[in-house]
Amino acid sequence: MEHLVNTHEIVLTSPLDMHIHFREGAMLRVVAPLSAEAFAGGVIMPNLTPPVDGLDRLLQYRTEIDEAIAGAIFAPYMTLFFRAYDEVELRAARPHIIGVKLYPAGVTTNSEAGVQRIRDAEPTLAIMEELGIPLLVHGETSGFVLDREREFLSIYARLAQRFPRLTIVMEHITTRDAVALLDEYPNLYATITLHHLQLTLDDVAGGLLQPHLFCKPIAKRPEDRDALLRAALAPHPRVMFGSDSAPHPVSAKEAAGCAAGVFTAPVALPLLAEMFEQHDALDRLQTFVSDNARRIYGVTPPEKKVLLWREPWQVPARYGDVTPYYAGRTVAWQLAQRQSRAGP
Ligand code: NCD
Ligand code: ZN
Repeated sequence: MEHLVNTHEIVLTSPLDMHIHFREGAMLRVVAPLSAEAFAGGVIMPNLTPPVDGLDRLLQYRTEIDEAIAGAIFAPYMTLFFRAYDEVELRAARPHIIGVKLYPAGVTTNSEAGVQRIRDAEPTLAIMEELGIPLLVHGETSGFVLDREREFLSIYARLAQRFPRLTIVMEHITTRDAVALLDEYPNLYATITLHHLQLTLDDVAGGLLQPHLFCKPIAKRPEDRDALLRAALAPHPRVMFGSDSAPHPVSAKEAAGCAAGVFTAPVALPLLAEMFEQHDALDRLQTFVSDNARRIYGVTPPEKKVLLWREPWQVPARYGDVTPYYAGRTVAWQLAQRQSRAGP
């Protein structure tokens, strides 16, 4: 893939964010343009209330997104919220979706309508395998919070064995064990977020509690973060960048009962550039943020050159009523487009 790297700037070709929460209404209109400015496309999560679990609703949501990002070069790759779909429904949806997202019931924001027992999902998974529709999974059990992802790994293994032609994406992996599982089954893939490459549980709860760093799955141990970082920097051929950018209003984050989700969309590429540079891996960023996802999903995003400059930039305190990751802190790299803009 054509790209350019020197010490002051990097040009990424059609960067992709393979896991984003855009929400709806006023929140969508604040957050979607920020992703659409930085990326050429992204996978849009369906956990709205009610969930996006039918083609009509999905097409309406797609229209709302198109209006919010009007004029931007950005492909929204839509997903359906997993339920028991029949073949007619999935055949009709297939041209409009990149995959179906499965949430175990109750494990995260707006997942109440998720799957109670994974076995009940199998008839639908068999149709998806037949039709070549990827399965995206929030892989956590309802066990002890630090063990939830690890406990889910045996479910991934079983699904990978039972449906060997089904593309299974382990979303936002957070553990060394999940990285290792990639090498056990050829049909397992994973997205990795920015914040899980940087944070451990200590950053979230080791000192004063940091609500803006609280997300599902929760950040784990240093050795987990290091394994994720190795996989992203290599990059492992079956990992892709997916920010899991998940905006919540300040009132829902700075509250007794803090909502889970870290809003990283506006800082994702600058911080990835900073991090890859620190690890002497800037020349591999293109593969992590675009090429792997194209190959894994077989998508051809719109052609878009995104220029990042090595010029310090202070992250705003707010976008609308959302506090971004890194609020108020300085990042060494910035999106070139921002130079000419007055502010967010
Ligand atoms: C996400 C959200 O807010 O929708 N929250 C999160 O902590 N990541 C849902 C999700 O992806 O789990
Ligand atoms: Zn998510």
